[in-house]
Amino acid sequence: MDATVWILVWSLAALLLVLVARARAMVQPPVAPVPVRRSLPPGLYASTTAPTPTAGAPGAPSGSAPAAGPPIDPVSRRKLLRWVGWTGILLVLGQLAVSFLPFFWPRKVGAFGGRVLAGNVSDYDVGDVKKITEGKFFISRVPEGFLALWQRCPHLGCSVPWDANGPSLDSIKPQGRFNCPCHGSQYDRYGQIIAGPAPRPMDLFPISIENGRIYVQTGPQVAKQRAVADHQKDPTPA
Ligand code: FES
Repeated sequence: MDATVWILVWSLAALLLVLVARARAMVQPPVAPVPVRRSLPPGLYASTTAPTPTAGAPGAPSGSAPAAGPPIDPVSRRKLLRWVGWTGILLVLGQLAVSFLPFFWPRKVGAFGGRVLAGNVSDYDVGDVKKITEGKFFISRVPEGFLALWQRCPHLGCSVPWDANGPSLDSIKPQGRFNCPCHGSQYDRYGQIIAGPAPRPMDLFPISIENGRIYVQTGPQVAKQRAVADHQKDPTPA
């Protein structure tokens, strides 16, 4: 779960707790106000009934209820609705702030999801395949240029290792192929599916070559899917 979902869940839980507390306060029965008994000097009035002794006082009947305390002021409905409204507004603003935060965060560099340096052009001979672990891709040097092949198998997403000693599936070198360990899909140096259940070739990441250095933009959003590997168009020329 990402941060936005956690914030939303905790905010809703807090809101629920407060609402329950407020609702309990509202359903508490109101207490009748205690009539004020004026005391007059004796002799100024005549009463046919004896004054009722207060609870707990000498002469009060046993078992009588004690005098009620000050009345509890219930939370008005308008106040509660105002509180809920402000909470909702704050929740929406919080969510917007969280979703905008990534724009102010520095973009990842040198790791998967960002731009990764994959070495120099001179580091590769034709036929070489090197894994760039931090970027989760392979650089494949083919006669036409360079390919950055995402290691994720297009079948069900397993990581595809490079088998440098396996029989080659292309005419560039006698040895080397990609072998997916999950269901046996096999790919050549262009990432073309040769055998197995994968529905398409391995996906490509965009490559740029600047001053003899190879840069690869990585991440699922930039991965290019292919129906078939094109030996002329797919590679980036050196
Ligand atoms: S995940 Fe690679 S062949 Fe199934």
